[in-house]
Amino acid sequence: MRTTALAKTTATTCRASDGVRIDVVTIFPEYLDPLRLSLIGKAREGGLLDVHVHDLREHTTDRHRTVDDTPYGGGAGMVLGPAAWGAALDALLADPAAGPAARPRLIVPTPGGRPFTQAYATELGAEPWLAFACGRYEGIDRRVLDEAAEIMAVDEVSLGDYVLGGGEVAVLVIVEAVARLLPGVIGNVESLTEESHTAGLLEYPVYTKPAQWRGRDVPAVLLSGNHGAIARWRRDESLLRTLRVRPDLIHALDPGGCDRADLALLASQGWTVGADGRFSPAEPAVSD
Ligand code: ADE
Repeated sequence: MRTTALAKTTATTCRASDGVRIDVVTIFPEYLDPLRLSLIGKAREGGLLDVHVHDLREHTTDRHRTVDDTPYGGGAGMVLGPAAWGAALDALLADPAAGPAARPRLIVPTPGGRPFTQAYATELGAEPWLAFACGRYEGIDRRVLDEAAEIMAVDEVSLGDYVLGGGEVAVLVIVEAVARLLPGVIGNVESLTEESHTAGLLEYPVYTKPAQWRGRDVPAVLLSGNHGAIARWRRDESLLRTLRVRPDLIHALDPGGCDRADLALLASQGWTVGADGRFSPAEPAVSD
């Protein structure tokens, strides 16, 4: 039986050859099969990621391997009960491969959680051990998370303002976003610094050969060999796309990180730095 009097620490001894350990507890282990493919599969083969998927039903004790029950207080749907979850988390912590004092950061995907962002992915990538608890139906009995929070960091995380059938798809998304940031997972690290969201802007459009396709030309500047002009064009395209699609990101941008050409471009679109030190669109003219 696990004691809850243990100090809340993050794992320090569970890195497999400096890779990140990932455990996923779910009632649908096959849902996580894509974690064998592509980038993640290669990262696993290379020892950068150590992934373990566990079937929650392995921790049931009845003939029907029951994991859910009706909600106290009434209402629709079923709730994943505490017994199997408690046993599953106990088993994780008791894994000798993790080391005696190691604790994962427990991630619980839920539409009621903290929004998942690129910055959040970077934060999770610094953890040596992540454990994911996949909810289904109406969610997991709150006491499971309350008890876990006494001995490890527990994050409830949302992918966005919509409701999925369960946490498994969210785990695939989070693990992929985290894994590709780990040193050695992506060959060309430059692509990490230039991509959408890394600098608070959306990415500029990209092109490859042929230079003309179905009557459409690649923008001439990209063929010019003028690296300064190409960088400026890309930055302008990023700013314009972000203004069009995600003006909230322009409002969140630090004006101190913008050069004169950025400021001129944004001003040409009616966005200037206001009294709050943030970019905002000019007030529409009041007509009488
Ligand atoms: N589970 C169900 N909906 C979800 C969401 N939007 N994000 C994360 N996990 C979820």
